[in-house]
Amino acid sequence: MIPHSRPTVSAEDAECVARVVRSGHLAQGAEVEGFERELTARLGVPAVAAVSSGSAALELALRALDVGPGTEVVVPTYACDALHHAVTRCGATPVLADADPATLGPSAQDVARRLTRRARAVVVVHPFGLALDLDQFLALGVPVVEDCAQALGARVAGRPVGSRGALAVYSFYATKLLTTGEGGAVAGDAARVARVRDARDYDEREDLAPRFNFKLTDIQAALGRSQLGRLDAFIARRRAIAARYRARLSAAAGCRPPGDTGERHVFHRFVVTVERPLGPVLDRLTRGGIAARRPVFRPIHRALGVGGYPEADRLWTHCLSLPCYPSLTDAEVDAVGTALAEALRG
Ligand SMILES: Cc1ncc(COP(=O)(O)O)c(C=O)c1O
Repeated sequence: MIPHSRPTVSAEDAECVARVVRSGHLAQGAEVEGFERELTARLGVPAVAAVSSGSAALELALRALDVGPGTEVVVPTYACDALHHAVTRCGATPVLADADPATLGPSAQDVARRLTRRARAVVVVHPFGLALDLDQFLALGVPVVEDCAQALGARVAGRPVGSRGALAVYSFYATKLLTTGEGGAVAGDAARVARVRDARDYDEREDLAPRFNFKLTDIQAALGRSQLGRLDAFIARRRAIAARYRARLSAAAGCRPPGDTGERHVFHRFVVTVERPLGPVLDRLTRGGIAARRPVFRPIHRALGVGGYPEADRLWTHCLSLPCYPSLTDAEVDAVGTALAEALRG
């Protein structure tokens, strides 16, 4: 079976982790500080706070923007449930926005339509490693949180994603662009990142403002630092896989691959739009030993039982995520491409 995703870890990663375990200092400490320093340099932002997951990063970023009861946060419906949960945990109201079929991210027009005076933030997801242009979102006049959980290392006009919004969040889950097993980060200006640092650790504080244990450990940070050293190689391999898929699928009828494979996107997923119903295509690939997936398990509005998101519904019905990760071999890419072309022929 060719799995849909797979972590990319090496003996050198294991040695870096083992070194920290042997040191006896396991919790947040010098390794986390080093990881934050290196991420700050890489992301081109003033400050970074490492936290325990992308979900924790989202929640603490929203709290640092004073999201709370009586406020609203606009989030894309065609995204993972973590966005909805982060907003509701702050006591705020999520307002869902429809998708833009051209980018697979949120539609700036639909976000604008749904903004009210209570809107405190807009979460813009760079979907599946595809870097979005932020201009239309920044022009809305509401703080933008860039969700870069799937887009670490992507660039727009030479600038890293995550460097233009009020804050940016990252996830270091096992199969993300780089991993700490579980983990995340918030990036942005020093004052807001200081609020995130304050809130991630509840211990020995004078007051009882809401605080959490959302810390990353030194064990995890050691893995993150080792992985960060190979991020460019990971991204180069993902781009090469995307280019190979595009070449293989260019003649396949009823299948549209994503846009350019240039210097912009990092292809956390390789998402194609197919005309045929997805169920039989997925079944056929599974029978051929290939695990493909819907790139979004289910749009958020469908879990809430509400309508009014036709573009997200269309993407959910037609978008397919193919295996795409650095350890995938060229032969595996070719096998997936051939199997998909056959499945689309019916
Ligand atoms: C776009 C997006 N945001 C946030 C998250 C949450 O990250 P985590 O799983 O690290 O909590 C994910 C997780 O996959 C994600 O894809």
